[in-house]
Amino acid sequence: MNSESIRHPIFPLTIRFAESIDIQHIMNIETNGFPPGIAEKEETFLERIRIFPEGFLLIESSQNREVLGYVCGEIWDVSGSIAESSFLLDHRISESHNPGGNSVYISSMAVRRDRQNAKLGTLLLSSLLGSISLQFPNVIQSILIVGRDWKGARHLYSQFGYSELFVSNNFFKPINQMAMDGIVMKKEFFNLPIDL
Ligand SMILES: CC(C)(COP(=O)(O)OP(=O)(O)OC[C@H]1O[C@@H](n2cnc3c(N)ncnc32)[C@H](O)[C@@H]1OP(=O)(O)O)[C@@H](O)C(=O)NCCC(=O)NCCS
Repeated sequence: MNSESIRHPIFPLTIRFAESIDIQHIMNIETNGFPPGIAEKEETFLERIRIFPEGFLLIESSQNREVLGYVCGEIWDVSGSIAESSFLLDHRISESHNPGGNSVYISSMAVRRDRQNAKLGTLLLSSLLGSISLQFPNVIQSILIVGRDWKGARHLYSQFGYSELFVSNNFFKPINQMAMDGIVMKKEFFNLPIDL
């Protein structure tokens, strides 16, 4: 998928792979979506785009090319139970991504505040999960960590069939605010029988 146009009921949208020149738009959405201490760094996102561009999608207005949201993921090889220590903000994708692995980890996702609640997050996540499962048939599940108080994100993930695996106490530590638990969630992919 290089880019895909979507007829949204309100405005036409395009979903495409991110490139490093998009970084300021991504960082604007990131720093508006997450407080200091939780927002990840520019260099973290640039490395994600460089190492695994197929795992980094943007959604933009087809009319004026304004970037409205992003989702990024990477492939982990998970055997047995998932260790709490695997989850780190600003971790380096170069140390965790394994294209031969069995799990897609959704590392971050945000939609511009003035465009939230218009299904853009749903479009982004379904596009990423769909394209990863087509390109990487070895991937059989998706995992992520979400803040306990992030109602919108938790609602979206449960709609996608993610369910809670365990709680990482005080995982998110916003500067000058109370720490918040992270909920680690998992969704299994179900393969269709080949002869269908
Ligand atoms: C989470 C986020 C990416 C979802 O994107 P979005 O485009 O607003 O989501 P959608 O419009 O596709 O909404 C999907 C569902 O979640 C619901 N939802 C979205 N935001 C919500 C909120 N703040 N409170 C309650 N429900 C919410 C929608 O109503 C919809 O449910 P419905 O189908 O039952 O109506 C976006 O809200 C965001 O950027 N939040 C801040 C950053 C964040 O929390 N990122 C996730 C990190 S793990």
